[in-house]
Amino acid sequence: MKTFSTLSRLSLVASAALSLFATSSQAQDANSTSSNTTAGSVFISPPRDLAFALNVPSDSTTDLYFSLMFPEGTSWGAVGLGSDRMAGSLILLAYPSESGQNVTLSPRIASGHSEPVYTPDIKVEALDGTGLNNGTFIFNGRCGNCRSWSDGKGKIDIASKSQNMIYATGDSSTLKSDSFDAPLRMHYNYGTFTLNMAHATGPAGVPIIDRSEDSTLVATTQGLSKEGKKDVAALMHAIIMVFVFVGLYPFGIFVLRLGSWVRWHGINQGFAFILTIVGSSLGFSISKYYNRSKKVNTAHQVIGILIFIFIFAQFALGFLHHRNFKKTQQTTKMAPIHVWMGRVIIVMGVVNAFLGFPLAQASQYNYVLAGLILFLFPAMILILVTKKFIQKKWNKSKNEPTGYNMEPWNQQNGQAGQGNGAANPQQPMGQNASIPGMSTYAPYHAQGMKADLGPQQNTREYV
Ligand code: HEM
Ligand code: HEM
Ligand SMILES: *[C@@H]1O[C@H](CO)[C@@H](O)[C@H](O)[C@H]1NC(C)=O
Repeated sequence: MKTFSTLSRLSLVASAALSLFATSSQAQDANSTSSNTTAGSVFISPPRDLAFALNVPSDSTTDLYFSLMFPEGTSWGAVGLGSDRMAGSLILLAYPSESGQNVTLSPRIASGHSEPVYTPDIKVEALDGTGLNNGTFIFNGRCGNCRSWSDGKGKIDIASKSQNMIYATGDSSTLKSDSFDAPLRMHYNYGTFTLNMAHATGPAGVPIIDRSEDSTLVATTQGLSKEGKKDVAALMHAIIMVFVFVGLYPFGIFVLRLGSWVRWHGINQGFAFILTIVGSSLGFSISKYYNRSKKVNTAHQVIGILIFIFIFAQFALGFLHHRNFKKTQQTTKMAPIHVWMGRVIIVMGVVNAFLGFPLAQASQYNYVLAGLILFLFPAMILILVTKKFIQKKWNKSKNEPTGYNMEPWNQQNGQAGQGNGAANPQQPMGQNASIPGMSTYAPYHAQGMKADLGPQQNTREYV
């Protein structure tokens, strides 16, 4: 999996490098409107999926000109001014516009290791050459107030020979938006560099980026460089939660219905319960990374929290029911609640998974999820129905009762198999029909057979 994604990324970067830098004179021509005398310092990221050039016009005390480019197939590209950390730097974030043919530039400020927040105070004007050019998204701009921000808490020093800067690029997911606070996925590649501001100072204008294949950095120095990073916590959250709600919990029911293996049901659901706690904790912790989730008010998060509460109740009910049953060999009023709440929880969990992927800007995985469900659930149902069918035949020949019943508490005495006879022979039909007498569920005992939990025995807990 990892190798696969690394490989596919590499090929992307290879083609990215091609589109960003290998394209010939044609691309150069597009930029040649800027004069050759424009001063500029140029940074190119090691995987060559981002290029940035800065011009400090010597005839202005406020302006900065810049050019920022990233290849098609990369969701976003950004450079942060003034720091070697995310926190406090002024981030010039670029992503494809709604049309996919232009570039949206969103000035943002980050407070730490979390999605930077759009700041309308920073004014950036798009200049000639902005748009999609030969597979490369380019934003050429002038910023009127990018030398100092956050009331002076953040600034760049135009005299510095090594001004701290950061950069990052998104993964290969699609992002197209005209909105300035478009939701981001975490960076795939990121790092730091320093930029010689003195070298960037000179005649005003959009600085030129040499897009030939062997172009090099100009008056900038590479610092930290990280490649192939992912939001591992979000990934684990998704894997665990889908595994639990599409796989483990339904399997726990399957095990119970297939063979009445109550013990395995308990162990399986207990394990799933622990995983749910782990997965939900990851959900809580990733919530603070993103602007879309940090208020914890999305449908996905609210439903997730409800489920989180319900599974505690569910586990308690199952546990208490089982303890009572073992003592008395009689079912409890907790059983139907446990059964129905369990079914509701699974449905809610599955629905919530479908809400999680779009929240994470990864809606395409909803198709994978749907495929998984359309395969697994019918397969389990088919096996159960087949089992019931075979058992019916078997029972007919042996004159034994059928073993499988989805709603045992709804059984009336007359249908409850042979067991009620001894314990409560004359209970009238229909009385307490919805919550029948406990005796209904103590069938085999009364006849002196050993209660077991195997499929052919009918003393059953139905949880
Ligand atoms: C969704 C948006 C973002 C999230 C959730 C995020 C989260 C993080 C996290 C968790 C780290 C620490 C990684 C580690 O130590 O393993 C980090 C580091 C870093 N990020 Fe971001 N980031 C986001 C956007 C950006 C943007 C737009 C930039 C643009 C320049 C950026 C630049 C960096 C850099 C340079 C570092 C290393 C320096 C540092 O630790 O601050 N990030 N980010
Ligand atoms: C039944 C319970 C849950 C299920 C099945 C579930 C499933 C998912 C899935 C499949 C994703 C997509 C992740 C990705 O592609 O990166 C996701 C994202 C997310 N989940 Fe959950 N989740 C559940 C509960 C929770 C809870 C309790 C919280 C916390 C309040 C939470 C917070 C989040 C957040 C913030 C994201 C978005 C991450 C991002 O923006 O990259 N989830 N969830
Ligand atoms: C591209 O977007 C900029 C604003 O980001 C706008 O000024 C410019 O006119 C747009 N160009 C085209 C061709 O739509």
